[in-house]
Amino acid sequence: MAKTFDVAVIGAGPGGYVAAIRCGQLGLNTVCIDDWKNEKGKPSLGGTCLNVGCIPSKALLESSENYERVRHKFSEHGVTVQGVTMDVGVMQARKNKIVESFTGGIAMLFKKNKVTFQHGKGRFVSDGNTYQIGVSDNGKLESIDAKHVIVATGSLPRQLPGAPLDQNLIVDNVGALSFTEVPKRLGVVGAGVIGLEMGSVWRRLGAEVTLLEALPGFLLVADEQIAKEAQKIFTKEQGLDIHTGAKITSVKTGKNQVIVEYQDNQGARQKLECDKLIVAIGRIPNTAGLGAETVKLKLDSNGFIEVDAHCRTNLPNVFAVGDAVRGPMLAHKASAEGVAVAETIAGQAGHVNLDTVPWVIYTSPEIAWVGKTEQELKKSGVAYRSGQFPFLANGRARSLGETSGFVKILADTRTDRIIGVHIIGPYASEMIAEAVVAMEFAASSEDIARIVHAHPSLSEVFHEAALGVDKRSLHI
Ligand code: FAD
Ligand code: NAI
Repeated sequence: MAKTFDVAVIGAGPGGYVAAIRCGQLGLNTVCIDDWKNEKGKPSLGGTCLNVGCIPSKALLESSENYERVRHKFSEHGVTVQGVTMDVGVMQARKNKIVESFTGGIAMLFKKNKVTFQHGKGRFVSDGNTYQIGVSDNGKLESIDAKHVIVATGSLPRQLPGAPLDQNLIVDNVGALSFTEVPKRLGVVGAGVIGLEMGSVWRRLGAEVTLLEALPGFLLVADEQIAKEAQKIFTKEQGLDIHTGAKITSVKTGKNQVIVEYQDNQGARQKLECDKLIVAIGRIPNTAGLGAETVKLKLDSNGFIEVDAHCRTNLPNVFAVGDAVRGPMLAHKASAEGVAVAETIAGQAGHVNLDTVPWVIYTSPEIAWVGKTEQELKKSGVAYRSGQFPFLANGRARSLGETSGFVKILADTRTDRIIGVHIIGPYASEMIAEAVVAMEFAASSEDIARIVHAHPSLSEVFHEAALGVDKRSLHI
């Protein structure tokens, strides 16, 4: 006998598990189906984000940054430490503990909100008045009937042709988060978000890191000025070796090394020898094996599930959220969509504004932005004014010893409404929240300029940038 639910959520990443919790809160009888298993072969909720993404990467970034601080930043405070060593095993154990506590926490949240968890791979078997979902787990097959389905199956790393992953010499994010010792020479294909974050972790711990990026410029998704500043800091100050315009021609593995051949941006043949190679060239939607074709669930040519602005698919009562659909592949975007869909199913109004989803890259300094870049505004012909302020002129940044970078605010010339905010600097991840609130409330730069910001605080840099839109910054 099939078990019957109001809602079946397929996938327990930040899109799916949050949707399931919200459905539970709204009194919907909900099951969440997920097939993730951890290294011990045990079900582990939380998807990519908690198991091999956001959370473990931030744990390693913090550990490696502490090592960097002790070695290079403490002395200016008069703190001298001798004989500093790094125990990679302890760092990894700490990371694993953080991951376990969070993934276990989701199981508790499911219990609290009366969400049923079903481990296994879910696929559409049939449609009709209800949808039948088959769940296979270790050869056992369960059948679930649900009136509504939320697909939140996430994404998988894009593979580099000719460079099969072995999670030892050639790794994706999973391997890159689990090295048991610091590679002497680390190669990274793709200077995107994962490449920069993982490259930073292992560089701080002592690896010589070379990044090979296919595109002709660095970090082209970010505002040009931010990308330029970041490239200068990452290369000149931190020693990341970044090659843009690199075309990989072959990847070969030896006993203990990887040899990457590529054409550089001048067309010359180059060779990179490294002890480990991280492949981080983007992610693809995880929609194969979902039975989409059985129920005629519409996918686009890249495998993303087609949805409208409310995450509705072409099938009645079937929704899709997170990395498996259009929009940025970010955990908070996935969760926001999960909540919105749960509320829509419960008869409320659910909507996510993709124009105000913030981006953060957790390098040091951090990079964060929301809204339009300057190059996008130029291209679309929108007249704008720009205000900018450096962390160097801020008391809190000076006392932290973190003075690199700046905040830039872009405002519509006609209305003064803020249309883009770009930050490179300390705690940019936290500071961007003020920008998101401002944009959601349709604030003008004048509104921010008139709000009192605490002194001394990093938020004063945001305030001064807003004043700068009207050319009236006070401390520069
Ligand atoms: P996922 O988290 O991928 O979860 C999908 C779940 O569904 C998985 O558990 C999967 O096993 C399961 N599943 C798939 N198919 C089926 C099926 N047929 N049946 C049952 N279960 C199924 N984003 C941020 O916002 N901030 C960050 O700092 C950040 N850092 C990252 C670092 C790394 C190294 C990586 C790789 C990603 C990072 N991301 C970050 C991106 C973030 O992890 C994703 O955007 C987010 O996890 C997407 O959530 P999701 O719920 O759509 O999918
Ligand atoms: P990405 O899209 O950020 O970067 C991939 C890079 O690889 C791009 O610059 C691309 O031009 C380059 N590339 C593609 N093919 C290539 C090739 N053949 N040779 C060389 N370079 C090539 O993707 P990434 O870093 O894999 O991360 C995937 C996604 O995960 C991110 O886009 C983001 O959505 C999410 N993520 C978010 C984080 C955060 O929010 N802090 C952290 C890590 C990942």
